[in-house]
Amino acid sequence: MAGLALYCRTGFEKDLANEVIEKSAALEVFGYPELKTNSGLVLFHCYQAEGAQTLAKSLALTSLIFARQLFAFTERCEQLDTSDRIGPILQACIEFPECGELRVEHADSTDGREISKFCRKISVPLRQTLRGKGILTPLEHNKLPVCHVYFEDSTTALVGYSYPQNNSPHPLGILRLKFPNEAPSRSTLKLDEAFQLFIPKKEHGKRLSGGLHAVDLGACPGGWTYQLVKRGMFVEAVDNGAMDEALMATGQVRYCPEDGFKFQPRKNNVYWLVCDMIEQPQRVAKLMATWVATKRCQESMFNLKLPMKKRYESIKEALAIIDQCIDQHHAGPYDLSVKHLYHDREEVTVHLRLKA
Ligand SMILES: C[S@@+](CC[C@H](N)C(=O)[O-])C[C@H]1O[C@@H](n2cnc3c(N)ncnc32)[C@H](O)[C@@H]1O
Repeated sequence: MAGLALYCRTGFEKDLANEVIEKSAALEVFGYPELKTNSGLVLFHCYQAEGAQTLAKSLALTSLIFARQLFAFTERCEQLDTSDRIGPILQACIEFPECGELRVEHADSTDGREISKFCRKISVPLRQTLRGKGILTPLEHNKLPVCHVYFEDSTTALVGYSYPQNNSPHPLGILRLKFPNEAPSRSTLKLDEAFQLFIPKKEHGKRLSGGLHAVDLGACPGGWTYQLVKRGMFVEAVDNGAMDEALMATGQVRYCPEDGFKFQPRKNNVYWLVCDMIEQPQRVAKLMATWVATKRCQESMFNLKLPMKKRYESIKEALAIIDQCIDQHHAGPYDLSVKHLYHDREEVTVHLRLKA
């Protein structure tokens, strides 16, 4: 038994499975998915012997929209004896490459959270045992593979490893952020997470710096505008709703009660176009691509609100529209990232810009 284990938000297992089937076939690795609705976990069983390793190395986590984390699993340890769970787990790890870290995890679901305390507790003796056997390095090492033990329940564990260049550094693959009390809506965390995920930290000084101009379509009450203002930017906030008064008092926001599809910025100096309008994903995709292709902005970050069914298909349709639009404008190659962020609900976040 070997394959790829992937985490996602509960309820999105089918979308992730469809995505993995398609993207692993493009790498000529074939298999079949195993999933349970609302488990937050998808297993992709590989037919080829080396399939799981190939995917763990080459199926980029950044390219997977719905996956928060991935690792190659080698065994599912079932009916673990509660008096010795560590023995069988150790046996399952014996052939692993030397790992620099151990992650003992569970689903990000109600059931999963119930065993989080148990996971924390077992990780201490398990780490010591793996270190004693040379499977784990004596000190943590972030350039070596990561050993994963994922408890489906307290007596069933998936055991495997991931590669440091292709995994999430965050527990459960979740970037947890603190809600800033002065922000006018919880949506603010979506844009914060998107900036942290898509823009390399060393480039924040240039691409997220004070003085840049931004347009926020569908801005009210101002959670996204808050993120831009906090970074010292000047924002044209477009929406017919009401904006947060404290944000307006900063003097960095110009309120524009207009339709986001018709809005024209005052000046030609827009760096960021952000958009959280609740509108059809195809329409939003076309609007964003047009702004980027015609260089009305330098970078764009936006949400695509998803239908309840066929979410993956709906995203692919929107991405095809973007590609077509950029091509029609002969705008050249572009960078595009799409992710179902931790703070996203029935939506995904997209970053789009032309290549330099
Ligand atoms: C999810 S809310 C935005 C929340 C906001 N990003 C925040 O962080 O506070 C969606 C907003 O899009 C606005 N909206 C929807 N369609 C629009 C359009 N065509 N033009 C302008 N605003 C629109 C709605 O009025 C609503 O305020």
